Amino acid sequence: MAFKDLRDYLSHMRSRGKLIEVNQEIDVDLEIAELGRIATYSHAPPLLFNNVKGYPGWKVLTNVYYSLDGIYEIFGTDKLESIGENFLSSFGDLPTSMLDKVKSLPSILKMGKYMPKERRPSFEEDQRLNLELLPATKTWPKDAGRYMTFSIVITKDPEKNINNLSIYRVQIINEREALVHWQAFKRGSMSALKYKDIGITKVPVAIVNGVDPIITLTAASPVPPGLDKYLFAGILRDEGVDVTELDNGILVPAHAESVLEGYVDLNDMRLEGPFGDHLGYYTPQDYYPVFKLEKAYVRENPIYHVTSVGKPPLEDAWIGKGVERIFLPFLKMIIPDLVDMNLPEYGLFTSVGIFSIRKRYPGQAKRVMMAIWGTGQLSFLKTVVIVDQDVNVHDLNQVVYAIASTVDPQRDVLIVPNALNDTLDHTVPSPPLGSKMGIDATRKFKEELGREWPEEVKSDPEILKKVTEIWNNIKPRA
Ligand SMILES: Cc1cc2nc3c(=O)[nH]c(=O)nc-3n(C[C@H](O)[C@H](O)[C@H](O)COP(=O)(O)O)c2cc1C
Repeated sequence: MAFKDLRDYLSHMRSRGKLIEVNQEIDVDLEIAELGRIATYSHAPPLLFNNVKGYPGWKVLTNVYYSLDGIYEIFGTDKLESIGENFLSSFGDLPTSMLDKVKSLPSILKMGKYMPKERRPSFEEDQRLNLELLPATKTWPKDAGRYMTFSIVITKDPEKNINNLSIYRVQIINEREALVHWQAFKRGSMSALKYKDIGITKVPVAIVNGVDPIITLTAASPVPPGLDKYLFAGILRDEGVDVTELDNGILVPAHAESVLEGYVDLNDMRLEGPFGDHLGYYTPQDYYPVFKLEKAYVRENPIYHVTSVGKPPLEDAWIGKGVERIFLPFLKMIIPDLVDMNLPEYGLFTSVGIFSIRKRYPGQAKRVMMAIWGTGQLSFLKTVVIVDQDVNVHDLNQVVYAIASTVDPQRDVLIVPNALNDTLDHTVPSPPLGSKMGIDATRKFKEELGREWPEEVKSDPEILKKVTEIWNNIKPRA
């Protein structure tokens, strides 16, 4: 059963003894982020700060996604793949191509219970509230200022009426202006370009904070652009999101803790950053557009949801792990060769990905690499490793053994020059263009090796059985 809102989630965690309430006074300037990171690195449960210096009436929440356990809490299950599997099985084995299935998703969804539902808002307009009065945090000493780190930036596609909910960091400049860090190729910036094409430079936007954590996770997820994020949140929650429409036409979650209504002015680009990012480095300044606040809404005794990124594994890493599991069934639908994938926390999600395949023909691994680089946000992956299906992608020693025992670098490493990489990647020569590397760590077919692949050593089963009994008698006791 889905949480109605953030408060519902907090009551659940409190009742499970999994909420740390901090009553000591704490500062939004570095202190909350520092304590949050210590908590995440120790897999401690969420922290609710009840006494935030200089922001009476507000509480600040962090560390909701404290580990995979934190993700299981918000979904009420540790079988994250089953969410996608159950959903996909609900429209069965249609006698259509994979592509037709993907294309028909939105229309199937529209009929279902996953649609957003119009509800009375739990928040009210507050004419005194402005951006400086939000308990947004400064997360690293050399950050340009205070940022909204877990707010959801909502736009609406001007052509297709699709709702885009996305986590982008937002740098507060003054009471009514903030910089929206939507990277190129993300939903926000792509729909902004569409507005520009039709001569609109003031893009209607809402910035929402404090909702059911599944909605926040959906906003951070690489949902295919043709699919409405409210619908996808509805699938993940197994229940449509309660929404309400703002005067600027943007639909926002009806039970959000705070909502900022306004527009992003595409004619007003200013330098954003520096900001300590998920790669563990400060990203340099770059130009991003300015959000201009028109109206603010807030609930009584509001809660402000924040996070901090930095060297892994922090909250974004656990979101990434959850997303990896949830999206695997959907990805298998598009790339049927796939068996499993691992986007390791320390691989930064945009840098290293390991994929196992059911290998049936020569050249298949390189074909899959290219499919991965052509699929949504997996296209940002800098290094893709393909292994055979019997390799456990989550056991990095097995992956290293696969690389060591199957790869001839000249034949099996594919370098793609001047490809699109993560704009935040400081290693690439001219962001966002950098090279990519694919490693085919599968056993080779005769056509690939030029001769038969050698036979692998295997024990004689009878001997193995016999000596295992002997071993059990002689092995040192723990
Ligand atoms: C904590 C956190 C901060 C993020 N900050 C940004 C950001 O500043 N800019 C950005 O483009 N993506 C950022 N992301 C990644 C996006 O949320 C992610 O790519 C998501 O799928 C949104 O893409 P979409 O708008 O195309 O759906 C962040 C993710 C997390 C979890």
